[in-house]
Amino acid sequence: MRIKSVIAASMMMPAVAMAWPWSTDMMNQPSIKPQEGAMLDFPERSIPVGGMPTQVADREASRDITNPVEATAKSIDTGRVLFKIYCAACHGQTGAADSPVSGKIGAIALNDDYVQGSLSEGWLWGTITFGSYVMPAYGVPQGKRGSNDLNVEERWHVVNYIKHGLVKDAAAAATKTAAK
Ligand code: HEC
Repeated sequence: MRIKSVIAASMMMPAVAMAWPWSTDMMNQPSIKPQEGAMLDFPERSIPVGGMPTQVADREASRDITNPVEATAKSIDTGRVLFKIYCAACHGQTGAADSPVSGKIGAIALNDDYVQGSLSEGWLWGTITFGSYVMPAYGVPQGKRGSNDLNVEERWHVVNYIKHGLVKDAAAAATKTAAK
């Protein structure tokens, strides 16, 4: 009887349950993510097929990389889906830094001249890969403050969406709201 009430009481205390060591983070799972740990050597005489550089030293070294993924409608669509999943929480659904947390953590707008005009596609890719000052990294293993959730190509799709879809989407959303 007594044990039952202890169990019942603990089930009613989700706040305490949150603090248990095994419930820290759903993002960092034991599953092995791409490029985590030592990379194996490629088999002898293998040749690159995708032709995309996968290992870059840091964000600075990414600045001048040419985007190897053409900004087709399909790429932009893929980028849009990934953007909504990975970026919108902080940068807002339309990238205008209008999510409930944008102001609190200082997430910047991605639809303004600074990002659209001054930042190169390589730099955007590098920012997604390595993170920024507050922003987390999406292309390096955990431990280096990353989650490694987006593979090389997916990161370029997000870049294509930011540069070729984001502003158009925001304008379309604004017209819709105005028409209401
Ligand atoms: C946890 C919140 C958060 C998420 C999620 C997030 N960002 Fe950020 N991002 C920030 C913050 C805060 C800044 C501004 C401060 C900084 O540079 O770290 C920023 C800055 C940026 C910058 C500007 C970098 C520069 O050179 O000034 C770009 C570009 C960017 N984010 C793109 C993205 C993309 C693309 C995604 C999704 C893959 C994303 N962010 C996900 C918080 C986030």
